[in-house]
Amino acid sequence: MALAQQIQAFYDASSGLWEQIWGEHMHHGYYGPQGYHRLNRRQAQIDLIDQCLSWADITTADHILDCGCGIGGSALDLAQRFQARVVGITLSPVQAERASERARAAKLGGDRPPCAEFRVADALHTPFADQSFDLIWSMESGEHMPDKAAFLGECHRLLKPGGKLLLATWCHRPTDSLAGPLTPTEQRHLDRIYRAYHLPYVIALPDYRDIAQESGFTLVKTADWSQAVAPFWDDVIASTLTLEAVVGLLQAGPGPLQGALVLRAMAQGLSSGLIRYGLLQAVR
Ligand SMILES: C[S@@+](CC[C@H](N)C(=O)[O-])C[C@H]1O[C@@H](n2cnc3c(N)ncnc32)[C@H](O)[C@@H]1O
Repeated sequence: MALAQQIQAFYDASSGLWEQIWGEHMHHGYYGPQGYHRLNRRQAQIDLIDQCLSWADITTADHILDCGCGIGGSALDLAQRFQARVVGITLSPVQAERASERARAAKLGGDRPPCAEFRVADALHTPFADQSFDLIWSMESGEHMPDKAAFLGECHRLLKPGGKLLLATWCHRPTDSLAGPLTPTEQRHLDRIYRAYHLPYVIALPDYRDIAQESGFTLVKTADWSQAVAPFWDDVIASTLTLEAVVGLLQAGPGPLQGALVLRAMAQGLSSGLIRYGLLQAVR
């Protein structure tokens, strides 16, 4: 099966369960800069959105693209927060349908701002005209992209001059430090995670910075928030140890179950420093 179909099938099968057990956001939580704040998981996920906006100094936006929108958690928040028009894209028809339903329920289903619409589209080849958006928001979808340069190139094409890209994405540790290239053990650790979550590969944060600059972006800034988000996985692991979650996982089929089996590997990867949580902001 092609990668895009695998990703679609994974999110089609797992999104309902994720929403039931974990809520509308399919991204990490923010637990304070060092990860010491003891927070409810859902609050931590909302705090991550707040922190990203504040870090990237995003205080206003009229037309926003949410690349890899899940079931619309960020998109609905951004539409309301900025009284904006938001378009969310995902590979999963189940997610797009559920996100549209949630937009209607939140009275954001119209065509006047604040509003949010959702489509099935591939972030590497979107159907939108050049310079359509003033903010592109991509929260934990970059790791799924098989061609990171094509992804950032498409974001650059879609942004208006002066428009901003905000990317939060899974990375591996930089390989230009004393630690050197990834070891075979590290690569095997990552491969397990790639297989379970249908990731082609991840890259180091400095590589994202280089690609953004090569794509024509300016004012590129990056930050490593691995410590801030690390407690998230222990929370997720704890929440799978309920009857509701176990039954849900068994019913959702092999894909979501495989995802659950690598939760510990994600937690270990983050705590060992192999897996990093990268932020990138850039201006067209
Ligand atoms: C981990 S979920 C994150 C969802 C959402 N951003 C959030 O924070 O709740 C990853 C999302 O990326 C989407 N995605 C992955 N590859 C994509 C692609 N090539 N084009 C569009 N969406 C993609 C998936 O369909 C899914 O919605």
